[in-house]
Amino acid sequence: MRVAVIGAGVIGLSTAQSIYEQFHSTVSPLTIEVYADRFTPLTTSDGAAGFWQPYLYDKGNVQETKWNKETFDYLLGFLKSAECVNMGIFLQSGYNVCDEPSPDPSFKDTVLGFRQLTERELQLFPGYIFGWFNTALMVEGKTYLPWLMKWLQDRGVKFHHKKIESFKELAEAGADVIINCSGMRSGDLQPDAELKPGRGQIVKVEAPWLKHWIITHKFSKGTYNSPYIIPGSRLVTVGGTFQLGNWSEQNNSADHKNIWEAACELEPSLKHARIVEDWTGLRPSRSKVRLERETIQCDGAEIEVIHNYGHGGFGLTIHRGCAQEAARLFGQIAEQKGKIPKARL
Ligand code: FAD
Ligand code: BEZ
Repeated sequence: MRVAVIGAGVIGLSTAQSIYEQFHSTVSPLTIEVYADRFTPLTTSDGAAGFWQPYLYDKGNVQETKWNKETFDYLLGFLKSAECVNMGIFLQSGYNVCDEPSPDPSFKDTVLGFRQLTERELQLFPGYIFGWFNTALMVEGKTYLPWLMKWLQDRGVKFHHKKIESFKELAEAGADVIINCSGMRSGDLQPDAELKPGRGQIVKVEAPWLKHWIITHKFSKGTYNSPYIIPGSRLVTVGGTFQLGNWSEQNNSADHKNIWEAACELEPSLKHARIVEDWTGLRPSRSKVRLERETIQCDGAEIEVIHNYGHGGFGLTIHRGCAQEAARLFGQIAEQKGKIPKARL
């Protein structure tokens, strides 16, 4: 069977990996090809901090919570092997601080050592009266995406640097199943009124003394633009903005100023940090992830598409759970087409 994956961000690459793991065999070999007009290090998945937490989108969607947990547990499993360094995965602890009391988040039972903050800890964060401490994971796209690409290349997956104009183009090129992991630009391939850009600008700095992440939540103001600080393996990510409907991928100096002032108020030692760069990306924001099969009728032919996009500000957090589900849907199609025996599903 020929599988065409559109997208080489964390979603496209991990979905290709799950399909290969679950369904490739010498008896029924798969030909998997990945098409993208942006590859690592230029995707949204590369620019993101790579922090495991369903930030901004913790709406308690039960299915998404399961996929988030599946991803956490999968990544945690690699921490017992040296391979985690090549994958960009490591543990990191930190603080979620809130300006009003809040119910437990969906990730409470997924992360390690979740607990409420003590009064002494809260004194470190003036203006915040409530919060949680836990250990979470980092999965840095700039390392993880090259690792995924090598994993796929080693197994014969081919990569094409190409903008895809339509699903039909790939069906005509011989694809039996198309996996749509085109992120924020999925609307170009099929209109989706629900999909909107959630523009995010961040500042990357050198501040090696910072060892804990701090995520603030200004629930009382209902604003998404509250500061966060996330140390990475090399640089610290300081954020951020969330501007729904803004398509600009340009860095903006007014946003930089607001981000920086708010972050320095939260963590005054940042005044000693060296600013390395600003980065702006578009979160593929949606009320929920679109992960489903669709059979598209086109000029009398049927095109089998699996959509896997709309992961908002939590694509790295949820990717493996979604990839496994997309692979399960692929198995359904392959079985219906009589290409794999039922027992493998
Ligand atoms: P992308 O990484 O954007 O990849 C899309 C791919 O599709 C690209 O390869 C592109 O070239 C390709 N493509 C699209 N259309 C076409 C076409 N027509 N033809 C060919 N190729 C096409 N998430 C977290 O979990 N943790 C974080 O710490 C985090 N921090 C973030 C910080 C910021 C500032 C932002 C903006 C986002 C952050 N996110 C974070 C969210 C995360 O970055 C996204 O959810 C994730 O990158 C989405 O992955 P994706 O593979 O769907 O999209
Ligand atoms: C963001 O989308 O900006 C983000 C995602 C996860 C953790 C922190 C920030």
